[in-house]
Amino acid sequence: MSDAAKVMRRCDVLAACTEEPGGITRRFASDAMGRAHQYVREWMLEARMAVTRDNVGNLRGRYEGAGKGTLLLGSHLDSVRDAGKYDGPLGVMVAIAAVQRLRDAGKRLPFAIETLAFADEEGLRFGSTYLGSRAVAGRLDAAELQRIDADGVTMAEAIRAFGGDPGRIGDDRWTGERPLGYVEVHIEQGPVLEARGLPVGAVSAIAGQSRFEIMFTGEAGHAGTVPMDRRRDALTAAAEVVLAVEAAASTEPGLVATVGRLDVEPGAANVIPGRVSFTLDVRHPNDRTRASACEALLARTRETARRRRLGVEVRAVSERASVACSPRLTKLMGEAIGGRALEVASGAGHDGVYMSEITDVAMLFVRCKGGISHNPAESVTEADVGVALDVLSRFLELL
Ligand code: GLV
Ligand code: MN
Ligand code: MN
Repeated sequence: MSDAAKVMRRCDVLAACTEEPGGITRRFASDAMGRAHQYVREWMLEARMAVTRDNVGNLRGRYEGAGKGTLLLGSHLDSVRDAGKYDGPLGVMVAIAAVQRLRDAGKRLPFAIETLAFADEEGLRFGSTYLGSRAVAGRLDAAELQRIDADGVTMAEAIRAFGGDPGRIGDDRWTGERPLGYVEVHIEQGPVLEARGLPVGAVSAIAGQSRFEIMFTGEAGHAGTVPMDRRRDALTAAAEVVLAVEAAASTEPGLVATVGRLDVEPGAANVIPGRVSFTLDVRHPNDRTRASACEALLARTRETARRRRLGVEVRAVSERASVACSPRLTKLMGEAIGGRALEVASGAGHDGVYMSEITDVAMLFVRCKGGISHNPAESVTEADVGVALDVLSRFLELL
């Protein structure tokens, strides 16, 4: 079996590690993640890596080099709800395969390679993103540990149940010399490579993003008896905001804004919605444009609440500036690609956002069918994965 075929098969194996049968959902510190770790640990060991798991739950495989310095490779193993197979796992599998190649050739590079399989990038379980890479960058605050998931479990409890010590998250921080870089292979999640007929591309930058949790509180009441002019319906207010978000993003070039989750309470056909909470995700390559878009949308949200006599609470969940990839490493990635090396900007967030705080970052995108991701229809070809693996191996040689 070719190396690329093996990567594909391993992504299939990980897809079966899910909390929801019939689909892929693998949240931070879940049993499904635990099962995925058993496989990934085995594969790291097979490539002769020394494997450890840190407190937050990142799996780390280290392949020593002949000299000093460490290059970090990685991606994440958690997923969104009803996910595809490749967003995250592909990058971890390609990294392990690249190390396996070195091992099979009996080769040690002048530097060590540490493969990081991050515990959380999507933020599905606790609403707060990049938990894995934030711990490595030393940016996971103790206050975050009190966040609760949908079942009322705190992050600290989840970490403990998964085998980590929440009191020692600080130990997960990278403390050695500054790494030589952090390199991530990831599906593009966009249509550019496919449109250009290219299997892979180097990434120029990762767009910034802001996330909010918003709650409207009105008054629940009888759907048959409360006259329309006396209602304080939290859902109709939220509907207004959802459409305003779409309109704002449709008129500002480069802006994308999404309400991806909406919870209606009490949630019955014959009850006026008394409370609605929803998420807002706003992104733009330019940080100032993103900030002013957020300001305008939140002002619109508050105005809606006032006009409709509702209570409103806005909680900023996360805010990250856009991150430029390292020109030096990206140029090297271009050389490793050879020929037509296109640079693509990423609208999706990646662990490189936080890794950029401790080292230089480079990314390699792999073409995906229709640019589709965060969807079970995510698809990459074995041939393209083979190209990505060759490029990463060449990158390691060039470095
Ligand atoms: C991660 O996939 C994100 O960009 O939300
Ligand atoms: Mn994702
Ligand atoms: Mn991802």
